[in-house]
Amino acid sequence: MTVILGIESSCDETSASICIDGKIKSNIIANQLVHAKYGGVVPEAASRAHQQNIIPTVHEAIKQANIAKEDISAVAFTRGPGLLGSLLVGTSFAKSFALARQIPLLDINHMQAHILAHFIEDPQPQFPFLCLTVSGGHTQIVLVKDYFEMELIGETLDDAAGEAFDKTAKILGLPYPGGPLIDKYAATGNARAFALPEPQIAGLNFSFSGLKTAILYLVQREMRQDPEFLNTRMADLCASVQERIVSILLNKLKKAVQQTGVRQIAIAGGVSANSGLRTQLLGLGKQLRAEVFIPKFEYCTDNAAMIAIAGYHKFQKGEFVGQDITPVARMAV
Ligand code: KG4
Ligand code: ZN
Repeated sequence: MTVILGIESSCDETSASICIDGKIKSNIIANQLVHAKYGGVVPEAASRAHQQNIIPTVHEAIKQANIAKEDISAVAFTRGPGLLGSLLVGTSFAKSFALARQIPLLDINHMQAHILAHFIEDPQPQFPFLCLTVSGGHTQIVLVKDYFEMELIGETLDDAAGEAFDKTAKILGLPYPGGPLIDKYAATGNARAFALPEPQIAGLNFSFSGLKTAILYLVQREMRQDPEFLNTRMADLCASVQERIVSILLNKLKKAVQQTGVRQIAIAGGVSANSGLRTQLLGLGKQLRAEVFIPKFEYCTDNAAMIAIAGYHKFQKGEFVGQDITPVARMAV
């Protein structure tokens, strides 16, 4: 029996998960509510909250999986990319646990883990497949050749897709993180109500900063005419914003399918929880005769189950790291 304890602490969620022989048995996530009042994640507050949360979160993951800590074969942890102070808490915990129990350590790349979340449940993609990874910090198109062999073929030149959602939400007066709220309002709005620009970027790269500026100007212009604009048109605004962000993402994914000839397409990362993206990806799959893979909601945003499953596959390869391992804020996919 191979039992992996997965630890995630790259941003503002403290999470622990137990994976037994490739099956996820628990996935505990402690959200940090402290950041909402600042309109974004405050790194110092995040690392302090991780310190408070990590031990109870790991205890709960072990308890829910119905195992004893003595059963754990190895510890997998997020090494990066992410906030250094936050990563340090998970890394230090994982190292101490592995040292105390005399078990191996597995370092995991957070962006690869978002992609490997597709191997938690069926149906699972086969190699090679294309993955659009969209989170608060990244927007990437990745050609996934094997569990740990991934090629970055497109990325954002400025803001990430999640940032585009969150920064737009801020302009609209919505609290952080605004992505899920835009999604909620968009459900009852008209996506064609406002025309927003689509940037013309070469190749498979993305840009979202122009969109953010266009929305700011639109809101300022309309508010001068009607101070109630944001109250009366919120649903239409959110639907139009969501439509444009999704079309920017999917037009590039379509181009990637045409360029590579790979006909399995997946999405991953926090923004893959977006209902507009999920629905329209299914449409794109039909149009391109490509097989579509969409993770369950709980495996889209940051979680330790994806770290544990990545750890399970790394364990099979015997790729362990020593106690001298340190976290890194920036890391290629
Ligand atoms: O992957 P993730 O949990 O954390 C990072 O690694 O960044 O992604 C968080 C991002 C945030 O920007 C959040 O607003 C966005 O994912 N997000 C959404 C939705 N749910 C989360 N964006 C749009 N629609 C959603 N339903
Ligand atoms: Zn993430």
